[in-house]
Amino acid sequence: MIKRQKYGDEIAKAEILIEALPYIKKFSGATVVIKYGGNAMIDCKIKKMVMQDVVLLKFVGLNPVIVHGGGPDINKMLESLNIESKFINGLRVTDEKTMEVVEMVLTGKINKEIVSMLNEIGGKAIGISGKDGKLLVAEKDTTNGDIGYVGKIEEVNIDVIKMMLDKGYIPVIAPCAVGKDGKTYNVNADTAAGKIAEALKAEKFILLTDVEGILSDVNDKNSVISRIDLNAASELMTTGKITGGMIPKLKCCIQAIENGVKRAHIIDGRLTHSLLLEIFTDEGIGTMIGKECFDDD
Ligand code: ARG
Repeated sequence: MIKRQKYGDEIAKAEILIEALPYIKKFSGATVVIKYGGNAMIDCKIKKMVMQDVVLLKFVGLNPVIVHGGGPDINKMLESLNIESKFINGLRVTDEKTMEVVEMVLTGKINKEIVSMLNEIGGKAIGISGKDGKLLVAEKDTTNGDIGYVGKIEEVNIDVIKMMLDKGYIPVIAPCAVGKDGKTYNVNADTAAGKIAEALKAEKFILLTDVEGILSDVNDKNSVISRIDLNAASELMTTGKITGGMIPKLKCCIQAIENGVKRAHIIDGRLTHSLLLEIFTDEGIGTMIGKECFDDD
């Protein structure tokens, strides 16, 4: 008891580590696909912490795979190059020139920065475009008319990712795809991450977002749904309670789980160490979605 008083803080830290033990054991060797985007990609401090979390995941035996988004860099670059874009129904038309810039920023800047940070922290990261090894094969997405080189993913070839994981690397993937016509296509990063998670039969698909999780009341940030099963999540889609950008995100999660991913997590990337809190604590920090009411399967 005396010891407890004297070393209270230290013991509390040890207890936190012990809470992680069953998850370190359970997820040893498991593949975790992380969609990295939003504020977590913009705020320098958070950025570094996300990277630390990812390297820690690797060193305790999990296999993180990062799929990143584009962030504000693409628009900035288009602006600085004075490339004017056409918009159709509010959607940017990705013509050949725009696509060149998109690819340059994604693979030449963002991807490289992430790889450097992971390496600096002690990980062994390797950057790859979705085009490499035909990892992502797409067709022109015409759902919203012809908006240029925007692709719908048709095929995922994950051999190259498996090779990297086998050799202990952390793959960092830029959301570009090769078209069946041989051209380069821009693909949605959430969708790409979900499809890659499916193809890898990942244990987890984690979306780092700019919201707390799925809210049961959109106006109440404290109403995060902590766990939800597939049926309830699908139902939620039809209730109108899910709005805006969350709709495609939840759709991605549902699809990933239907296609063999064990758990999907929507967590707040603005929050310090949200990845560790979600994976290594009982309560987690965001919303976890699974096939059934899941405790220990
Ligand atoms: N850490 C555990 C896991 O990753 C539980 C996470 C619970 N998360 C939640 N949002 N309820 O499986």
